[in-house]
Amino acid sequence: MVTRHETYDLSRQNTFGMKVSCRLYVEVTEPEDLLTLDFDALPQPLFVMGGGSNLLFTGDFPGTVLHMGNRFLHPSGVRNDKASVIPSEAKESLLVRVAAGVVFDDFCAWAASEGLWGPENLSLIPGEVGASAVQNIGAYGVEAKDIIDTVHAFDRQERRFVDIPGADCGYGYRTSLFKTAWKGRYIITAVTFRLSTVPQPKLDYGGVRKALGNREPAPQVIRDTIIEIREQKLPDPKEIGSAGSFFCNPVIERAHFERIVAIAKAENGPEYEVPHYDVGEKVKVPAAWMIDQCGFKGMRLGGAQVYPKQPLVIVNATGTATPEEIIALEQRVIGTIKDKYGIELHPEVEHV
Ligand code: EPU
Repeated sequence: MVTRHETYDLSRQNTFGMKVSCRLYVEVTEPEDLLTLDFDALPQPLFVMGGGSNLLFTGDFPGTVLHMGNRFLHPSGVRNDKASVIPSEAKESLLVRVAAGVVFDDFCAWAASEGLWGPENLSLIPGEVGASAVQNIGAYGVEAKDIIDTVHAFDRQERRFVDIPGADCGYGYRTSLFKTAWKGRYIITAVTFRLSTVPQPKLDYGGVRKALGNREPAPQVIRDTIIEIREQKLPDPKEIGSAGSFFCNPVIERAHFERIVAIAKAENGPEYEVPHYDVGEKVKVPAAWMIDQCGFKGMRLGGAQVYPKQPLVIVNATGTATPEEIIALEQRVIGTIKDKYGIELHPEVEHV
């Protein structure tokens, strides 16, 4: 079914809570409807959106916003009374096809309740399954690409459905070909994930192992632990508007990193250690740390605020922040960090 709404209010369709509208909003519940949809007749430009949790509408959208509202979850195995799901094609893994419109965390909750391994570290990331395959969402040492087997999509160019192996999607840190070379070409209709029936705990990132304590790692226990960690430092989307991490963590040359270490030691004392992760020859420096060092924690600009508990996140503190206020705060952060550390931060949040 295709539902159309003219001049549609998008306030509840974006987690930042921007009070904006689009000229036409199209909700598609059956992928087959894409075959008969006259794309050329839709107000342009066309923007395909998921849960609206990783974007900033910079104003009213002049064209069409299309959302895939299909919601199914089909495991490749069969259920019986005792074990929950029996893997079909291989003993140690199971394929599950999940519709683009399923809330990603509902899929995480299902996998954990079935004792299946794979998405537990991605628990509570906002957004929908379709978008997870565009953005290659990630947290606590796991990325969506680690469990994506196949992406199912409608190819607008060829007007047919295609199955794209995850390995061909050009996945990188919060990116894929869907965001770059293929932008606008495919509408993702479902994703097949490969989940493991044998234990594969990933506990090495950040404070996961510590937060787990003595508890026996099982998908549900890890999921609960990740939820506890996230709830401590990230704003609850039901209470305060945001789009999660606003900036990507930059990866820089080692010589550049050494200059940053010198600045940090001059300011914080010779024993001070700059948090970082080695990425091959290069170094990833947490943007949150730089924003913190520049004194931005809690800084307000109109209704926009650098979230005090995790300065990587910009929030709509009053519920009435405008896109202009968010962008002004973003630019102030980018400019200050460029001046101090010579690093240009790039937003992780898509600006529409
Ligand atoms: N830090 C500070 N001051 C602060 C906060 C953090 O100095 O006030 C430093 C700490 O050293 C900390 C480091 O920054 O160890 C990095 O923070 P953390 O590992 O908590 O998270 P992150 O690197 O800021 C990334 C993802 C998150 C994901 C977490 C956990 C990006 C852009 N963000 O954040 O993803 O949940 O790791 O894996 O890569 C999202 O994409 O919306 C998102 C929340």
